[in-house]
Amino acid sequence: MGKTVLTFIADTHHYSRTLGDSGKAFAFRSDSDQKCLKETGAIIDSAFDYLGKSDCDAVCIAGDLTNDGERVCHEEFREKLYKLRENKRVYVVTATHDWCCDGNPRRFSGENVYTDVSTLNHNDIYEFYKDFGVNDAFAEYKTTLGPASYAVNVGEHITLLGLIDDKNGRNSAGYKSAHLDWICEQIKLAIENGRVPVAMEHHLLIPHITPLFTKGCCSPDREKIINTFADAGLKIIIVGHSHLQRIDKHVSPNGNEIYEINVGSLVGYPAPMVMVTADENKISVKTDYLQKFTLDGEELDAQKYLANHSAKVISVLFSAAAQNDRELFRQRLEALGINTEKLGKAFTPLFLVFKKLSKMTVAQAGAYINKIPFAKKIPQKSIEAYSSYTVQQITETVFLNILDGAREKYTTDSDFYKIVAGVFSVPVCICNQMNIKGKPLELFSELQRAIDEILTGGTLSNETLKIFYKI
Ligand SMILES: [Fe+2]
Ligand SMILES: [Fe+2]
Repeated sequence: MGKTVLTFIADTHHYSRTLGDSGKAFAFRSDSDQKCLKETGAIIDSAFDYLGKSDCDAVCIAGDLTNDGERVCHEEFREKLYKLRENKRVYVVTATHDWCCDGNPRRFSGENVYTDVSTLNHNDIYEFYKDFGVNDAFAEYKTTLGPASYAVNVGEHITLLGLIDDKNGRNSAGYKSAHLDWICEQIKLAIENGRVPVAMEHHLLIPHITPLFTKGCCSPDREKIINTFADAGLKIIIVGHSHLQRIDKHVSPNGNEIYEINVGSLVGYPAPMVMVTADENKISVKTDYLQKFTLDGEELDAQKYLANHSAKVISVLFSAAAQNDRELFRQRLEALGINTEKLGKAFTPLFLVFKKLSKMTVAQAGAYINKIPFAKKIPQKSIEAYSSYTVQQITETVFLNILDGAREKYTTDSDFYKIVAGVFSVPVCICNQMNIKGKPLELFSELQRAIDEILTGGTLSNETLKIFYKI
């Protein structure tokens, strides 16, 4: 018996360099984003070249194909898809960034940002990407937005369900009930036909790491949806959106297990490509990472380049604080999607903490924390192991661990773990000492739990998985 292999990528966010790739306004935008902007075309070309030569049966892309739905980005991206299709079957789903849901497309010139950019309407998407899903499908479900979910058989073993989860009828991501019924029918039909159903949608159904990071823009019904999928017999779903690489398991109240693979962005660190292989009795998952890409004629180490780019999100924050520039600090937070008005009175202490930390080494920060009388002490041996590192370097490492699902695991007995966990235990200690309960304590306790997940990578591997089944 043979095997069927699908390779999943996500959040390609293709940005056309015709929208501007230099100048102050562009640099500000680019440095405030964990994923790349002007490099997207080069990264996608290299990845498609690599995938075109790989031995998968199809390449599948889990939404947010373009930067923000700009027509020129779609046109350039579709050309790349057609080229890839010369060697592979290609299936995509679209998502909110493909029809510019925020109504704020942008181009950059010098110090200015302009919004006079033509975008693709959600009603145009069905026709535009027809060759990458519905044209091969044996069934489709047209959503009220315009794009369609579809079911397509790939190879000997898999039925791929490409799902459009942009609307649940209540202005959130999700599905209307007729759509959900259609999906369950396809899952059951695949199983009846002796095939493994593999679903792909854009938004998360499991809040990977912590809901604090991955709540935004996801369906408020996600628990109900994932339980419905699991009970219909779906064992694996691939999502994008968060730009984090994670694998987590969910068990429905009826006891049915389902795994959600959150594929990180291809155009940001660590540029994951997730291979899902099905044979007659198991699904195996393996994650590959883009190793190189060619930008303006120069071949670059993709992992190093992308890690440096992503870490910039942290370094520009520290740098604004170090310069004592509150306004720049505020703008950097805003560019990260943090509403500083909502922060209210918390903004000033946050700025001051960053300002203080921006000048500190681990030795200095450790000594400072260990002087707080009621805080948990960070072992001196751990502080010494990282004494010359700056707090910024440690923060950047933690940030990269969030993105890559802890490819480098820091176990609970490691010095790095003890330092970071020690820092994050301080707010909880303060709450306990001052008898602060309710929301602040819940928030800081959840952050403390998340730090453990970030540093250790959680209980499951975020790169590999095996699911055994009997059809
Ligand atoms: Fe995205
Ligand atoms: Fe998204």
